[in-house]
Amino acid sequence: MSSSRIPAFYRLSVEERRERLREAAGLDPEEMATLCAADALPLEIADIMIENAVGTFALPFGLGLNFVVNGREVLVPMVVEEPSVVAAASNAALVVRGAGGFTADADQGAMIGQVQLIRVPDPEGARQRLLASRPAILRAAERLTPGLCRRGAGPRDLEVRLVRSPRGETMVVVHILLDTGDAMGANATNSLVEGLAPMIQEIAGGEVNLRILSNLADRRLARAGCRVPVAALGRDGLAGEEVAERILYAYEFAWADPYRATTHNKGIMNGIDAVALATGNDWRSIEAAAHAYAARDGQYRSLSTWSLEEGHLVGAIEMPLAVSTVGPAVESHPRVRLALRILGVASARELAAIMAVVGLASNLAAMRALATEGIQKGHMALHARAVSHAAGARGAEAELLRQRLIEAGEVKIDRARELLRSLAQERR
Ligand code: MEV
Repeated sequence: MSSSRIPAFYRLSVEERRERLREAAGLDPEEMATLCAADALPLEIADIMIENAVGTFALPFGLGLNFVVNGREVLVPMVVEEPSVVAAASNAALVVRGAGGFTADADQGAMIGQVQLIRVPDPEGARQRLLASRPAILRAAERLTPGLCRRGAGPRDLEVRLVRSPRGETMVVVHILLDTGDAMGANATNSLVEGLAPMIQEIAGGEVNLRILSNLADRRLARAGCRVPVAALGRDGLAGEEVAERILYAYEFAWADPYRATTHNKGIMNGIDAVALATGNDWRSIEAAAHAYAARDGQYRSLSTWSLEEGHLVGAIEMPLAVSTVGPAVESHPRVRLALRILGVASARELAAIMAVVGLASNLAAMRALATEGIQKGHMALHARAVSHAAGARGAEAELLRQRLIEAGEVKIDRARELLRSLAQERR
């Protein structure tokens, strides 16, 4: 990867952008063919991925630019339907790039598989017996996961929790911690807890009910950080110091108020989900984990933290990111393989770390815009392109219509059609 900084990339045609990507990422002719194919996902593959397939569904595949992560240049493939998301993340990455880039890392970690025991006669006794049997249960778990163990991953630990049901019963809940390596690990974890359940029931007494992974993957955390001189944050006639102060207020709002935190975290997930989609990851599990983790102290709060330290705005994020760089989606979806190739990641941990970075960048971009001019100006400038296209304008006329819409300050389809008609009259 040469550089993730490709100035004026957005002004190039799609063909020119592809060429710049080819140069920057060193894509070979086969990878270029995958990038340019009209059909990103062959129908016969779609048909084996899900049930009742009747076609495929496409979304824009863009590139997040300017990212430097742990000193490495990273081009970030992003799949998303919302305008501004790619531009905003790239914009924040450019600001952070000037300050040396992002730091990031992710735990090797483990997935949690849960076994629920109900109607347990002596829950506390069951807990003690299960803990005493920990070595035997873990040995059995190893026998059930030979492939993972061969690859240096596998079962790591066992925990027992007593959980009170709403009807007042004390349920015994066993957690099996399983390092699933570069896989997200849902199948491995579910198979393992299903396999271990009879042994666990035998030891605990009572009856096994559910055996399923927990999506609250809080043993698989990823972290990212950045440190930007406040002077680099000036915008819209406001000095950097004032913008940094207002960003701090924005963060404090999200820390203290769940209504704001939800939107703040949605902005973080804009970037994370876009990378999850591009890399074929289960974004619902990532979303579920993120929001549960955001409420870990009992109140739903911001996933990121921001502070001012010696003239710098310092940002950090920590969140569960149970992602995969192997498995069916990677094997079967040609553009998922391409996305991982563009990212240049060799492991799920590296991918998780970059996703945390993109989340933090998206967050910084959103707060900086919100704390200054607001997001609608930039958003409407981009939205105007889509509205002008929807009104039927193409090529140079579409660009002219886009500008007229922005000048008119009313980016709406009816207005676009009206303006398009007057453009046609001007030409007559
Ligand atoms: C829009 O997709 C995301 C934002 O609302 C995030 C935020 O408010 O922080 C701009």
